[in-house]
Amino acid sequence: MASFHPVSPLLWLTLISSFLLFLQHHPSNANSLITCHFEKIYTFGNSLTDTGNLIREKPVGAATGYARLPYGETFFKHATGRCSDGRLMIDFIANASGLPFLNPYLKKDAKFRHGVNFAVAGATALPENVLTKLNITNTLTNSSLQVQLDWMSKHLNSASKIKGDCSEKQKTTLFIVGGIGGNDYNFAFQQGRTIPEVQLLVPELVAATKSGVRRVIMSYGAVRVVVPGVLPTGCNPIHLTFFQTNDSSAYDKRGCLKEVNSLVSYHNKKLQEAIQELKREYPDVVIVYSDLERAFLWIFDNAEHLGFDGDSKQKACCGIGGDYNFNYTNLCSSKVPVCPNPNQFISWDGLHLTEAAYKRMAGWLIDDMLPKLQCHA
Ligand SMILES: *[C@@H]1O[C@H](CO)[C@@H](O)[C@H](O)[C@H]1NC(C)=O
Ligand SMILES: *[C@@H]1O[C@H](CO)[C@@H](O)[C@H](O)[C@H]1NC(C)=O
Ligand SMILES: *[C@@H]1O[C@H](CO)[C@@H](O)[C@H](O)[C@H]1NC(C)=O
Ligand SMILES: *[C@@H]1O[C@H](CO)[C@@H](O)[C@H](O)[C@H]1NC(C)=O
Ligand SMILES: *[C@@H]1O[C@H](CO)[C@@H](O)[C@H](O)[C@H]1NC(C)=O
Repeated sequence: MASFHPVSPLLWLTLISSFLLFLQHHPSNANSLITCHFEKIYTFGNSLTDTGNLIREKPVGAATGYARLPYGETFFKHATGRCSDGRLMIDFIANASGLPFLNPYLKKDAKFRHGVNFAVAGATALPENVLTKLNITNTLTNSSLQVQLDWMSKHLNSASKIKGDCSEKQKTTLFIVGGIGGNDYNFAFQQGRTIPEVQLLVPELVAATKSGVRRVIMSYGAVRVVVPGVLPTGCNPIHLTFFQTNDSSAYDKRGCLKEVNSLVSYHNKKLQEAIQELKREYPDVVIVYSDLERAFLWIFDNAEHLGFDGDSKQKACCGIGGDYNFNYTNLCSSKVPVCPNPNQFISWDGLHLTEAAYKRMAGWLIDDMLPKLQCHA
């Protein structure tokens, strides 16, 4: 006879708390950043955030595939310069703040009433002259974090001519500095550096981000700064293809590249330490780490539950060939097949994520950041 086992209180507690944890990552209120009353957002970074700067840089940026369909096909129905099929995390963050999409800085005659997007796809954390000393070439753009911060200075100068004083603290402005650094690593890998060699760059990259944060506080009056980390690119088709090996010990339990993801974790750990130092240095400024790593791995680990196709987690939606639907000499373009349902893919083109993945990540990140932003304080 089977006997009836009542569920133990401890198990109930575990079930309830995991349900609550689950709910916590499913934003019930999509406009939750509304309570922060941000009037403006200034953001700096790379292709995770660029809403149209790189494609306005001539000659290289304008010639990239990001300026053409199928980029943008899902939401905009035309290419905007976003490196995805649709919207990016920054678009969802702006929307959740009750603000329209941020215009890219290089868009002539654009309105910047609600902030500016200075991010450039391909941008590195380290400036061009420093990369040159390290024998690393950025083949896409020289608009590093430092250049983007210089643009901000120009922007404020021209804005202050119209509106007067700009030295005041930006009480209702959100600054997002990063995520940046991924491209420094990508270019180093592409140009033949090994993972241990690349690991040596971590302190310099973190220092570059840290000085960027310092600059928005000291020069631009930031009082709320979000600092995203770097993405676990060891799960991306581009790196999975580049480092593909028959040595199973190279992969973790997710099937992602162990060494690449440890590099990312190490970078993010050092970045969080730097943020702690900045918080001690500027106790009146709210500085929040935005955990792209955990947000991404949450999606990756719960892919099917979140509506993604479990068998395509490591495949590019737009791409061709190999185990990961990715081939570096045949990158996403109108000449390459696009999956019929990008909403079920995490990776869009092997390097960047789909709108569906960015939407989920933004939801997770907003929930995680909201209490830390201390909007009611
Ligand atoms: C936010 O997005 C929703 C859905 O796309 C849209 O209806 C709304 O107008 C957007 N809000 C702003 C401020 O743009
Ligand atoms: C970056 O600057 C260097 C010289 O400073 C130039 O040779 C190179 O073409 C530039 N790269 C891009 C992508 O514009
Ligand atoms: C710089 O890197 C290239 C490969 O990208 C290599 O061929 C060259 O030897 C390197 N130069 C130095 C001085 O290390
Ligand atoms: C893995 O092993 C197969 C069969 O032995 C071989 O054809 C293939 O080239 C190997 N792949 C790599 C990346 O070493
Ligand atoms: C990638 O594409 C090139 C050019 O079409 C082709 O020669 C090569 O075999 C492809 N590589 C893989 C791994 O499919």
